Amino acid sequence: MMSEFRLPETAAFDAVVDDLVQRGWSVCPGLLPAPLAQALEQRCRWLWQSDALTPAAIGRGSDEQVISEIRGDHTRWLEQCPPHPAQQAYLQLADSLREALNRSLFLGLESFETHYALYPPGSGYRTHLDRFRDSPLRTVTLVSYLNSGWSPELGGQLRLHLPEQTLDVQPLSGTMVVFMSDRILHEVLPAQAERASLTGWFRRRPDNPLQW
Ligand code: OGA
Ligand code: MN
Repeated sequence: MMSEFRLPETAAFDAVVDDLVQRGWSVCPGLLPAPLAQALEQRCRWLWQSDALTPAAIGRGSDEQVISEIRGDHTRWLEQCPPHPAQQAYLQLADSLREALNRSLFLGLESFETHYALYPPGSGYRTHLDRFRDSPLRTVTLVSYLNSGWSPELGGQLRLHLPEQTLDVQPLSGTMVVFMSDRILHEVLPAQAERASLTGWFRRRPDNPLQW
């Protein structure tokens, strides 16, 4: 079925691939087409207002706990949301990016998982890496911002702690950020307004799929 949403040409992912090769991260303003970003933003805010997002936990399995001073967002996995053409289109976009990364970087990325995230005013996410200690499969992080008209005074920047610099990214609608999940330390600075995004991870196939 043809989507009503236009997606970026495959060539648009070349720069992302180059950035990842060179330095392990890429910031791409406007890579998420505006109509798609707006539809996803509406979806995210509607879920938030309908009380359909739940406080996110840190850790995994028996380690899992909600500590809102460390991580304050409310999330819902896309696959647990009512279907919507914008979400289909977004997954298609992510899949094209996954293929581009596999073609050039041989990462063996085989799946993508993503959730809506809404940070209420005052909340953030302290400095962390995205790869779980007990799950080495999350390989590349993809964050897409869904905040039309964000201004820097509101805070809420994604802060990347890089070897040579600290880089703050505004969570402005249409910006996509891609980075190696096990390498790039990052945090979300507290915001003064509701901050919406889609955060996701490309997972690679296990070294031994049989889990011996
Ligand atoms: C995360 C995360 C960054 C952001 O959910 O792990 O770091 O800018 N999100 O929302
Ligand atoms: Mn993170």
